[in-house]
Amino acid sequence: MGENMGNLRRTTMCGLLRRENIGQEVVLMGWVQKERNLGSIIFIDLRDTTGISQIVVDNTISEDIFKKAEKIRSEYVLAIKGKVRERQSINKDIPTGEIEVLVEELKILDVAETPPIYIKDDDNVSESMRLKYRYLDLRKPKMQANLKLRAKTSKVVRDFFYENNFVEVETPMLTKPTPEGARDYLVPSRVNPGRFYALPQSPQLMKQLLMVSGMDRYYQIVKCFRDEDLRANRQPEFTQIDVEMTFVDVDDIISINEKLLYRLFKEIKGIEIELPIKRMTYKEAMERYGVDKPDLRFGFELKDISDLVSNCDFKVFTSTIENNGVVKGINVKGYAEKFSRKDINSLEEYVKTYGAKGLAWIKVTDEGITSPISKFFSEDELNRILERLEGKDGDLLLLVADKLSVVCDSLGNLRNEVARRLGILSDDDYSLVWITEFPLLEFDEEENRYVAKHHPFTHPMDEDVCMLESDPELVRAKAYDIVINGDEVGGGSIRINNSELQARMFKALGFSEEESKNKFGFLMDAFKYGTPPHGGIAYGLDRLIMLFSGSTNIRDVIAFPKTQSATCLMTDAPTFVPEEQLEEVHINVLD
Ligand code: AMO
Ligand code: AMP
Repeated sequence: MGENMGNLRRTTMCGLLRRENIGQEVVLMGWVQKERNLGSIIFIDLRDTTGISQIVVDNTISEDIFKKAEKIRSEYVLAIKGKVRERQSINKDIPTGEIEVLVEELKILDVAETPPIYIKDDDNVSESMRLKYRYLDLRKPKMQANLKLRAKTSKVVRDFFYENNFVEVETPMLTKPTPEGARDYLVPSRVNPGRFYALPQSPQLMKQLLMVSGMDRYYQIVKCFRDEDLRANRQPEFTQIDVEMTFVDVDDIISINEKLLYRLFKEIKGIEIELPIKRMTYKEAMERYGVDKPDLRFGFELKDISDLVSNCDFKVFTSTIENNGVVKGINVKGYAEKFSRKDINSLEEYVKTYGAKGLAWIKVTDEGITSPISKFFSEDELNRILERLEGKDGDLLLLVADKLSVVCDSLGNLRNEVARRLGILSDDDYSLVWITEFPLLEFDEEENRYVAKHHPFTHPMDEDVCMLESDPELVRAKAYDIVINGDEVGGGSIRINNSELQARMFKALGFSEEESKNKFGFLMDAFKYGTPPHGGIAYGLDRLIMLFSGSTNIRDVIAFPKTQSATCLMTDAPTFVPEEQLEEVHINVLD
């Protein structure tokens, strides 16, 4: 049983004591990180959110206190009063390492069972244990730092938008399906039998309505919900910094957002990023990097060698080209020696996960070329391949032949994987790039129709509008993503604000009039009453914090995240519910 705090009130925090405090009387409260009983003296590391102070219980000062202190174990909650004094053996590794506090009064506010995970950053415990005991996991310094970083980032964002006349408006969580392309989370309505709300995949429609309302500039830090396949940087519920503005075109949105990014990097990382941020069209990104979110911290760009190998003796290449495929390669410049055959085999397995059928390779050494496929090429062909890929001594060339999408996907991802394996990526090096001019539509084989690449309200580029019916796949959009170190941190577009163009867009998407009315009728109705040109963007706040904190796992920057299978191991959500509760919401669960 714990004691009361009594008259004790905290005077300072454990991590803040310094040499200057020597001689002061302080009251500290916190958890026991560890305790060492040396017989007549007990050392305790007391921890709170600011760090650790060493406290000392000395038998010669009070036997009663000493007896009490002997019972103390890890994670007990203590209040102590005592005098700060110089530490005998200085610990240079921690900021409070020059002092300790000699205890004069001790209260055990609560006892603790032995925690199932260690409260230290590198405890090496499985993530499922960490998630089950999340409240203990969050006691770790790194997790505390991540949550504080998150709070600071939100504050910088709020300050910035407030200063720039953006108004924070809350939008509903119980709403109609929103058009971001994932599955919806549905919420049954008790009072409207058989009807469901959808949790918002984003506030997209509401923020556009706010522009019709004359709000001029909106932002919100807001939860979004998407039932989709989860990955290292995706959560079923995640947070967006959501923005919308009136009377703007692409450059206006990019310009104000660059100022926000500048401010964030300055205040959070102490880095002055270069403005304007580089821009690259989608087409260029795909050609040079194979992906629409290139990591520009390193080279290894994709080069097309189809024209050089169309008559070679390697059937895999020639037949691919005959079937309208391509052969592309990357040059892992200067790192040939780092990759053994075994390593290359594992890279081959890696590209196969992206649909590639194999991975051909050429090592360039001062003694010539090593490659399983060199026998299929004339010397002239080989020389030209080397020339195209700028292959020199010490280089490793990796080649894939397939249809264009597979080549891009596999080499684009291989590029990142190779850089990761080489360990050449520094967390403190940031490459920012706007990807622009995305295709407006993409063909969905499964649905056998065009779908919006961004969403159905994205404005086509003015010069491409004329191709909406004749060559829909060639139409580019006024859409942009901000990509940082190979991660899509945000994306947005200018919206269609003209009902005739919107109707053409719905038609291109294969929506009947009825369908578009059902889905988005309220938005179309609103647009009848004077709609300003408008556009916006949304950032993934969680992804931004991952970047700032150097985390590779999105769960490390969210207090109470879900697993890859969208469950919460701490609360056991989602759970079964009693039959009566289901009946109340008119639901009959199928077995
Ligand atoms: P979009 O769908 O591109 O755009 O989302 C914007 C940003 O949100 C982040 N994000 C996610 N983060 C974590 N988990 C997820 N499951 C997840 N899904 C998306 C990404 C992404 O760049 N309404 C539009 C924006 C607009 O047009 O203004 C939208 O939601 O970082
Ligand atoms: P094979 O003659 O099938 O053993 O292939 C010889 C080399 O070509 C191996 O390194 C394969 O990985 C590689 N290879 C096979 N198919 C492809 C392909 N589609 N693209 C690139 N390399 C391939």
